[in-house]
Amino acid sequence: MEMFKLQQIKKTFSFGDQEEVILKNVDLTLNKGELTALVGASGSGKSTLLTIAAGLQDATDGQIFFNNQDLAKLSAEQMRAIRAKKFGFVFQFSHLVPFLTVEEQLTLMLDVAEKKVNKAEVTRVLQLVDMEHRRNAYPSSLSGGEKQRVAIARAIIHQPEIIFADEPTASLDSKRTEEIMALLKNLTKELNLTTLLVTHDQEVLHFVDNIVTMQDGEIIQAPVKA
Ligand SMILES: Nc1ncnc2c1ncn2[C@@H]1O[C@H](COP(=O)(O)OP(=O)(O)OP(=O)(O)O)[C@@H](O)[C@H]1O
Ligand SMILES: [Mg+2]
Repeated sequence: MEMFKLQQIKKTFSFGDQEEVILKNVDLTLNKGELTALVGASGSGKSTLLTIAAGLQDATDGQIFFNNQDLAKLSAEQMRAIRAKKFGFVFQFSHLVPFLTVEEQLTLMLDVAEKKVNKAEVTRVLQLVDMEHRRNAYPSSLSGGEKQRVAIARAIIHQPEIIFADEPTASLDSKRTEEIMALLKNLTKELNLTTLLVTHDQEVLHFVDNIVTMQDGEIIQAPVKA
C-alpha cells in the first residue's frame, strides 16, 4: 500500500547570483511494510531528499503526500505534530542524550510525541532491540552497536508509521551492521512500518525490499525489488 509519496521534488541553493540544483524532479513512492534503500555516490542528494521527506527542510518545489495527505497544506504546528508522532529518526551517530539512561531516552521521546509513558511498552520495545538488560545504563557504557539499537528503540517507541534512517550503520563494523540491518528489516515487517534507509554499503542491500539509486540529484532507476 502506498503510504508516502514524493512528487517532482526540486531543491536548489543560491550562492549570490549562482543557483545550484541539488534535486531535480525526484519522484519516489514508499509502501507500508517495506524497507527501501536510497543509494548513490557521495553528494548525489540522498540526505537532502531524506530530510525533505522528513520535513526537516523544505523543497524548492514539488509535493509530499503522507497517507494521501498533502503535507504542504498543513500548518507548521500540524507538521510538527506529524513529525513528532508519526515519524521516527535514526542517524549515523546515535545522538543519545549522555545524561539519560537507556530507558529515559525512550520516555523522553514519548514526551516529545505527547504519549503516556507505559512501562510495559518501554520494556517490550527494549526487548525487541535486545537492550532490556541495559535499561538503566548510560550511553557512555554502551558499544556502538548497542547505542544504535537504543536509537532504533527510540525511533519506534512512539509507534510511528515511517522511519527515516540516514546511514545508521556507517560507523559500525560488519557484524554490527548485519545485526542492525536485520533488526531494521524485522521491525519493518513486524510493526508494518515504512522505512527509508540511506546507505553507502552495498553489503546490506540483501536486507531491503527496494533499492533506489540517486545520481546528481536524480533517481536513475525506478524502484526495483532487491
Ligand atoms: N544547506 C546546503 N547548502 C548548500 N548546498 C548544500 C546544502 N545541503 C546540501 N548541499 C549540497 O547538496 C549536495 C547533496 O548533498 P547531500 O548531503 O544530500 O548528499 P548525500 O548523497 O547525502 O552525500 P553523502 O553520501 O556524502 O552523505 C552536495 O553537493 C551538498 O554540498
Ligand atoms: Mg548524506
